[in-house]
Amino acid sequence: MTKDEKFKLKRRNQYRLLFRKLFGGENGSLKLLLLISYFLGAMWVWSKQKTLIVFAESMELISPIFQTLLTHSIHAYLVVGGILLTGFAVYPFGRKAAQDQLQSIGLVNHAGMVPILQRKYSDRTNPHISIWEFLNQGIPLDIWESKRTAIEAALDITIIRMKYGKRKSHILLYTVSAQNDLPELRRWKDSYLSSDNFVLTLGEGFVGPVTVNLASIPHILLGGATGSGKSVLLKLLLMQALRKGAEVSIADFKGGVDFPPVWHKKCRMCFDEQELLAFLTKLVEELHRRKKLFASAGLPNIDQYNTETGVNLHRLIFACDEVAEMLDRTGLSKEQKELVNQIESRLATVARLGRAFGIHLILSTQRPDANLISGQIRNNLNCRICGRADNILSQLILDNTDAANQIPKDAKGRFMLHDGTVFQGYLFDEKNI
Ligand SMILES: Nc1ncnc2c1ncn2[C@@H]1O[C@H](COP(=O)(O)OP(=O)(O)O)[C@@H](O)[C@H]1O
Ligand SMILES: [Mg+2]
Repeated sequence: MTKDEKFKLKRRNQYRLLFRKLFGGENGSLKLLLLISYFLGAMWVWSKQKTLIVFAESMELISPIFQTLLTHSIHAYLVVGGILLTGFAVYPFGRKAAQDQLQSIGLVNHAGMVPILQRKYSDRTNPHISIWEFLNQGIPLDIWESKRTAIEAALDITIIRMKYGKRKSHILLYTVSAQNDLPELRRWKDSYLSSDNFVLTLGEGFVGPVTVNLASIPHILLGGATGSGKSVLLKLLLMQALRKGAEVSIADFKGGVDFPPVWHKKCRMCFDEQELLAFLTKLVEELHRRKKLFASAGLPNIDQYNTETGVNLHRLIFACDEVAEMLDRTGLSKEQKELVNQIESRLATVARLGRAFGIHLILSTQRPDANLISGQIRNNLNCRICGRADNILSQLILDNTDAANQIPKDAKGRFMLHDGTVFQGYLFDEKNI
């Protein structure tokens, strides 16, 4: 591409952006209609200009200003109309109403000043998202966060993200209209299965499906209070992994209550610690075997290895529902503790090295106890998902209390991803795996 072409492309993009800024967002079609009327009006004035000039000259008693306006009607029209049109396009309608609403919920600074709505525009990446830009009057982001639900109710919007603007004097609210709230129930359909290599679909967010790509984010830590929907989500992910040809292994020490017999047919089950340790030891051996294999082929990861060599190494998924129970050492004998230590150390190895070799962990917990899952494992479980939870559990999973604040207390299957995306997990019937 030549310099000239680049310049042209850049300029075109700028125009496009300007156009979107002016005519995007809430009143987009109304604004566009006005723009069209403006041009039609200009054509009409242009066509009638001669008549108007004759008319202006024939009138002797009108003021000279009005006479000039009539003789230069097309210019007058373009200038005055242009100013009005621009004003309409950039003015955030409902500014005053929005500020009154914020005042009424007490979002004010110490001087009693309320944030000023400066602009409303649609998000560049997704036109369903409307961004409200406020001058925050010195009210910091965490205060906004703490009043999130009140702001949503006051402005009749659903906030999907809040952040500072380019400067800390600005706050951006990423919103969708309140009517677009997430459904309480979404059933899984086979058509939701992603066709991408190792992308698993979690559920439906405000602006479409929410997915996780295990090739880049290899391990998942799933948290939530009892009844929040962890087991359903865990199984949803395992079902998709199976359908994508992965080998799935499950630790279930409750004697198979959580995983009915269908799972036993499709997955390798570990029912006690001994069995689990033996399995994890083999898993780590397989990891090292793959490591040597890839090194000798000079290939960095499973996907490239499979494409280059034509071999079909499967991805290996190890899942444990309620992993904190498994790693809890309270009341255990010395030997049992040693067993758990070894299990933990194998898990840590897989967590640290598994990604390139296609070996993944999906672990869930409901216990808000940071000591149960060692830092070595936790820090490598980089996909974090938290359902309904208290502050401590939310903090443990997401490193913040957002899930505790934003997931309703009666929600089932409602989760928040580590990047703040909220979604309704798909409910699926495990009979159909
Ligand atoms: N995605 C979902 N959508 C709707 N309801 C759900 C969803 N996930 C779970 N539930 C409901 O919540 C109940 C508890 O879910 P479960 O996964 O067993 O919770 P947990 O494992 O967190 O204790 C389920 O029996 C189901 O009725
Ligand atoms: Mg459960």
